[in-house]
Formats: sequence, C-alpha cells, structure tokens
Amino acid sequence: MGQAVKTLAAAVAALVIGVAAGAARADVKRIELPPDGLQLKPSTLPGYAKAQANCVACHSAEYMAYQPPTAARPYWEAMVKRMKMVFKAPVDEADMPAIVEYLVKTYGNEQPR
Ligand code: HEC
Repeated sequence: MGQAVKTLAAAVAALVIGVAAGAARADVKRIELPPDGLQLKPSTLPGYAKAQANCVACHSAEYMAYQPPTAARPYWEAMVKRMKMVFKAPVDEADMPAIVEYLVKTYGNEQPR
C-alpha cells in the first residue's frame, strides 16, 4: 500500500477520533459524519456493489470523485487495470466491465445530464 494512502488513512482516523473526542467533551449527542464524497455514489448499476466490494478497501471514493467528469471509458478501463496490476487490487477479471460501466456512468463522461 502506498505511503500516501497510509498517511491519508491516519489522517482520517485522527479526524474521526478528534471529532468523537470533541463531541464527548461538549456532551453533544450528534456525531458528525464525514462528507458524502467519501462514499461511492449510489447507483442501480450492478457495478456499484462490485465497486463497493473491490474499490474502497485501500482508499475512499474520494479518489473516484476527484477524477475529471470528462474522463471517457478507456480512461476508467485503464484505471481499473492499473489498480489490479500495479496495486494488486483483488478485482475479478469478470467484474471489471461492470465496474468500468458503473464508474464511467457515475463519475465519467457518460453521466446522465
Ligand atoms: C490494493 C489497494 C487498492 C485497491 C483495492 C484499489 N485501489 Fe485505487 N489506488 C490505490 C493506490 C495505492 C492509489 C494511489 C496511487 C498513486 O498515488 O499513484 C490509488 C489511486 C486511485 C485513484 C486516483 C487516481 C490515480 O491514478 O491515482 C483512483 C481513481 C482509483 N484508485 C480508483 C480505484 C478503483 C476504481 C478501484 C477498484 C477497481 C480501486 N481504485 C481499488 C490502491 C488501490
């Protein structure tokens, strides 16, 4: 796992602990959730569940959200391949088309307007 991801994970953990500690001190009963950007955007496409299972173990969905909305299908195909080949993401070859489909239609240039 990359150092950047570890640092990010540590930062998120520190943030969560900080928020919880702050809430306890102030005796506030409400817990602040992280921004929605950290979760994958819900979709009825079958690739949504597969992406949840395969794509957010190492980093949050922030990485997907920060990709250009103009990114076309080959960009997402390359991304999923790179995650598998370079970072050893345990993505099943058979699940890749569905994941790419979900990504390009949710974060890329095939989003409904
Ligand atoms: C085994 C861990 C792991 C898994 C699982 C994983 N990734 Fe990543 N991902 C990384 C790392 C590490 C980086 C940071 C790469 C860098 O900094 O160059 C990254 C970066 C990214 C980025 C940011 C853009 C970029 O090129 O760095 C996107 C988008 C992304 N991943 C999408 C995905 C998708 C989609 C999946 C599911 C198919 C996935 N990741 C699964 C490890 C993983």
